[in-house]
Amino acid sequence: MNIFSQHNPTKLYFGKGQISQLSTEVEKKKVLVVYGGGSIKQNEVYEDVMKELNKAEATIVELPGVEQNPRLTTVHRGVEMCKSQEIDILLAVGGGSVIDCTKAMAIGAKYDGDVWDLITRKAPIESALPIGTVLTLAATGSEMNPISVISNWETKDKLGWGSPHVFPRFSILDPTYTFSVSRKQTVYGIVDSMSHALEHYFHRTKNTPMIDGFIESLLRTAIETGPKLLDDLTSYDHRETMMYISTTAFNETLSNGTDGGDWATHRIEHAISAVYDIPHGGGLAILFPHWLEHVLEEDPSRAKMLAMNVFGISDEGKSDLEVARDGAKALRAFWDSLNAPNRLSDYSIDDKDIELIIDKTFIKPGVGVYKELDRESVKDILIRSL
Ligand code: NZQ
Ligand code: ZN
Repeated sequence: MNIFSQHNPTKLYFGKGQISQLSTEVEKKKVLVVYGGGSIKQNEVYEDVMKELNKAEATIVELPGVEQNPRLTTVHRGVEMCKSQEIDILLAVGGGSVIDCTKAMAIGAKYDGDVWDLITRKAPIESALPIGTVLTLAATGSEMNPISVISNWETKDKLGWGSPHVFPRFSILDPTYTFSVSRKQTVYGIVDSMSHALEHYFHRTKNTPMIDGFIESLLRTAIETGPKLLDDLTSYDHRETMMYISTTAFNETLSNGTDGGDWATHRIEHAISAVYDIPHGGGLAILFPHWLEHVLEEDPSRAKMLAMNVFGISDEGKSDLEVARDGAKALRAFWDSLNAPNRLSDYSIDDKDIELIIDKTFIKPGVGVYKELDRESVKDILIRSL
């Protein structure tokens, strides 16, 4: 293992009815409530949140309309509101997009220039307004991590950034709030959570049996629970399991003592989303198995472990490479069985923008840790994915 330190300051309130904790967190504060396209008004979430805020005698300001793949223009609106209305705390009510957008507003509110300077690292992030979250979709892990991903539609860039200042102070995770998530969006959530676990798994650090076993267990649980959940979208037990999986898959636990793993697939997916605005989980479902096929040819060791320890594939009479290839096939077959997208053509994407997508992938240097990719490798993965 590598030396490491861990400090995750997010307070989690997990389980049915935990919204009752909200009032103590925002007592008499001026709260900017940030949400998306209105799903929270079609279920009971908005009502529950407002009831709690009123109980806390909070002053409420609302900012609806955060897009999927949240945009810089919406961040700007939020920053302006925070500054002009002297907001004390931001409350994100939604999925990863709403939470990410809120994180960007929180840093922008404490900065005199354009928040894009902070996201692009032209200026350091020195502080942020506090944020809390009420999660309505299990997928990204944003509710318990310091990461955010923002799209600048003018320049067609989708950039991930992070800062310890934007760990949510608290996050309320009530699985019943995810009952209304559509089947398709639930599939994207399963794929995104599994991808986070998988990308942590493909590291190069030696002697990591505990973390490897933890990731394998998380993946096996997702494989067992995912199909049951899709058969019964309002099962509390299955929603609960997936919610805890998605939060744990990306709250820094899985990188303890390792080099952090290989996030090349996320880099390529963000590049595609920047150009085509496709759902994040859908893009990952297409790309990850092709990334796996690409890297296992050079080093099948981890894909072989995945095949045997997660998918129960036997190595009897097979070479390492054959077992590894069977593992990649098993992952693809599992996501296919959920009806996840498996070709870029599912989103009407062909090869015409491949060079642009490669440019966007390399917007920051260094793509990949398990295998560092060059432009040709990214092209190979994209062509396999068409
Ligand atoms: O807009 P609303 O009304 O909220 O509807 C959303 C949206 O249409 C809907 N939804 C959310 N909760 C619902 C619901 N519909 C019915 N019932 C509910 N309870 O679902 C749709 C998708 O929501 P979104 O927030 O976009 O999905 P997700 O949580 O997958 O977030 C995706 C974004 O997060 C970024 C992605 O790149 C993408 O921009 N990521 C953020 C990460 C992070 N901060 O750590 C890591 C991830 O790898 C990812 O890159
Ligand atoms: Zn993701």
